[in-house]
Amino acid sequence: MVTLTRAYRFSAAHRLYIKNLSDEENERIFNSCSNVHGHGHDYSVQIKVSGEIDPETGMVVNLEELDSLSEKVLGGLDHKRLDIEVPYFIENQPTSENIAKYVWDRLKEGLGESLAYVRVSETKNSYFEYFEEASCPDEY
Ligand code: NI
Repeated sequence: MVTLTRAYRFSAAHRLYIKNLSDEENERIFNSCSNVHGHGHDYSVQIKVSGEIDPETGMVVNLEELDSLSEKVLGGLDHKRLDIEVPYFIENQPTSENIAKYVWDRLKEGLGESLAYVRVSETKNSYFEYFEEASCPDEY
């Protein structure tokens, strides 16, 4: 098996809050991410795929196809106010956890079993990884 990890970036704004809680209660749960006026992040996204080397191309996955699929999905989030403009995040909190799941669900259709995980970072200090148990990377 060979793995490939490809990095992408996008920028977006959000506000994390629960509708029927007060601003104070939301601040206790979400800290500054519940700022009423929203705020932005530069998101870093890593897509990991794995598989056998294609004997004809010598590659594990076609990079152009991976890029075009990933850029299409992430382009739908870029420079958006996620909790206002993107229907999925009107229904689901626009946390990095849910962004990782959102990207996974959309890439899975095109990449199938080769998709190993989607990693999303909002800050330099942490990242979230979304994967299915069957595609759980070796280090887990
Ligand atoms: Ni935030």
